[in-house]
Amino acid sequence: MPRLPHLMGYSRAQIRLHWLVAVLITLQYLLHEPIVAAWRAFRKGETLAFQPLVALHVAGGLAILALVLWRLWLRYRRGAPPPPEAEPAPLRLAARAAHVTLYALMVAMPLSGAAAWFGGIGAAAALHGWLRIVLLVLIGLHVLAVLAHQLVFRTSLMQRMWRAEI
Ligand code: HEM
Ligand code: HEM
Repeated sequence: MPRLPHLMGYSRAQIRLHWLVAVLITLQYLLHEPIVAAWRAFRKGETLAFQPLVALHVAGGLAILALVLWRLWLRYRRGAPPPPEAEPAPLRLAARAAHVTLYALMVAMPLSGAAAWFGGIGAAAALHGWLRIVLLVLIGLHVLAVLAHQLVFRTSLMQRMWRAEI
């Protein structure tokens, strides 16, 4: 991906998108019960009444997909700041792998959910269920890594995702 040499940090749009997507993903996890019940009913051949929280899961998930594609386009066009100087080399590699996997999961989750919901594909629902665990574990590691940066490496990494730089 292209990287401008003078890039000091993330742009305002990149930061807003990061936090908006984080909030939407949290809601997907907190409010998943109704869609699970609706999916179970669908598999049993029962007729489904309209439920706002089911529609919210579908709409929220599709919104995440659109916002993540926008984010990836911004990252491709504008780039991202280089890793902090104090970050040990193996951790740079781990961070890069984690970020790539997070992006891949943020695309794969809505796609597998949509294949299940709109296509009635059972295997896609099973994949959706597995990927949700992988995504949750990675988000946990991501937060731990940010904490390690703050407390162990003292790189003030958090500021990069808080204050926009040109
Ligand atoms: C659903 C939850 C989250 C997801 C999916 C997520 C995903 C990501 C991704 C993919 C990046 C890489 C950005 C890029 O370089 O293009 C990133 C960066 C970052 N995230 Fe998150 N994030 C989440 C939650 C959080 C939380 C809760 C925190 C704070 C504790 C956080 C703090 C950061 C920071 C500080 C960066 C900048 C890292 C850097 O400058 O290299 N994120 N996040
Ligand atoms: C990043 C976006 C998404 C996240 C984080 C997410 C998260 C979740 C979670 C945590 C569950 C509960 C799974 C369980 O307890 O077994 C779930 C179930 C489900 N989601 Fe999503 N979802 C997303 C997008 C979507 C989209 C866009 C759709 C449909 C268009 C969708 C359709 C479904 C269906 C049908 C189920 C029930 C599957 C089952 O019970 O096996 N999801 N989702």
